[in-house]
Amino acid sequence: MLERRSFGELPAKPHTALHCKSTGALAYEECITRAGFDGPYSIAYHERRPHEAEPSDEARGWELLSGQTPRALGRQHFRSFDQPERGGPPLTARVPLLENEDLVISVLAPDAEDPCYFVNADGDQLLFIREGGGLLRTLLGDLPFRANDYVCVPRGLLHRFLPTAELRQEWLVIESFGPIAIPRQYRNEVGQLRMDAPYSHRDFRAPVFSGPCDEGIRKLLVKRGGAFFGFRYAHSPLDLVGWDGCYYPVAFSILDFQAKVSMVHLPPTEHATFAFPGALVCSFVPRPLDYHAQAIACPYPHSSVDIDEVIYYVRGNFTSRKGISPGSISLHPAGIPHGPHPGAYEASLGGGRTEELAVMLDCARPLRVTSAALAIDDPSYHHSFVDPGGSHSIG
Ligand SMILES: [Fe+2]
Repeated sequence: MLERRSFGELPAKPHTALHCKSTGALAYEECITRAGFDGPYSIAYHERRPHEAEPSDEARGWELLSGQTPRALGRQHFRSFDQPERGGPPLTARVPLLENEDLVISVLAPDAEDPCYFVNADGDQLLFIREGGGLLRTLLGDLPFRANDYVCVPRGLLHRFLPTAELRQEWLVIESFGPIAIPRQYRNEVGQLRMDAPYSHRDFRAPVFSGPCDEGIRKLLVKRGGAFFGFRYAHSPLDLVGWDGCYYPVAFSILDFQAKVSMVHLPPTEHATFAFPGALVCSFVPRPLDYHAQAIACPYPHSSVDIDEVIYYVRGNFTSRKGISPGSISLHPAGIPHGPHPGAYEASLGGGRTEELAVMLDCARPLRVTSAALAIDDPSYHHSFVDPGGSHSIG
């Protein structure tokens, strides 16, 4: 990047209303960003909604190397609540939907306890409990969790899940092959969470240790290299008499995330909650919206050119999206811009408040869609961004 350049009509501030001189109509932003929202960017102002292009068969390019058959490129919506046969213990109830070289995103609705202990030697696991709750029993102690919690289980830690039997369970799991951490910018030079971080040390719950425990379970399952291996103990592995250190599971309620509010729209990275190689996890929680008199509070259309974006909708109203329900998962891939549904951009002028609750993942490498995800795909989703009453028909 060289120096900043600017041409044509611009509002005084980004993310505020620009009315085109020639027509008086509201212009539509497209924020074109590198490295998620942390790198160089340009903001373009369109006369028409920039994310209405529809698939076409005219796709002739150069000859690709053999084996490179990409999936159809489009915005997708997976109805995770329609996923059949997700019951059983957490160890077997998991249904992978999206994956790349850095992570696997799965959903599950377990209705039984894990019958054995588990060690995931492939990666850390970050769960989000949309409904339900229970107990995470680990080598280091017991960690209760409930609805709206993130639960982070670090790689290699022996554990098993005990979902509360009386509760309906709906969980999201992100398996990360790199370590899941607090974003570096939230810490001061001694590692303490900064006072302007969106959470404090007091918000994270650790396991409670109460000495050796024998549940009568002797079986252990280990995952390594994408395969499962069984082991058997002659005694209970929960035989610790004490431990200390900085490596342990934690639980954190998304409702304790302290969202920032600004005069004009903040990039989603301001909602960063956890980070790991190749991905950023952000929390969208109920909050007041932007307070500039001309603020466009709705997320602007944008092309995050390095990022495949996934959103797991938890509950509440989603200002920019229609046809979305709790448990919906949207995938907005790099390569095509995305933005609000028709009417949402205009309706958000001047700010207000949102009651949305959602978890977002920005993924650096292209996501692959599993057959289980295709089975719950909403085929109308990509087209739903075209304004049916607008003058923006596709030629
Ligand atoms: Fe986005």
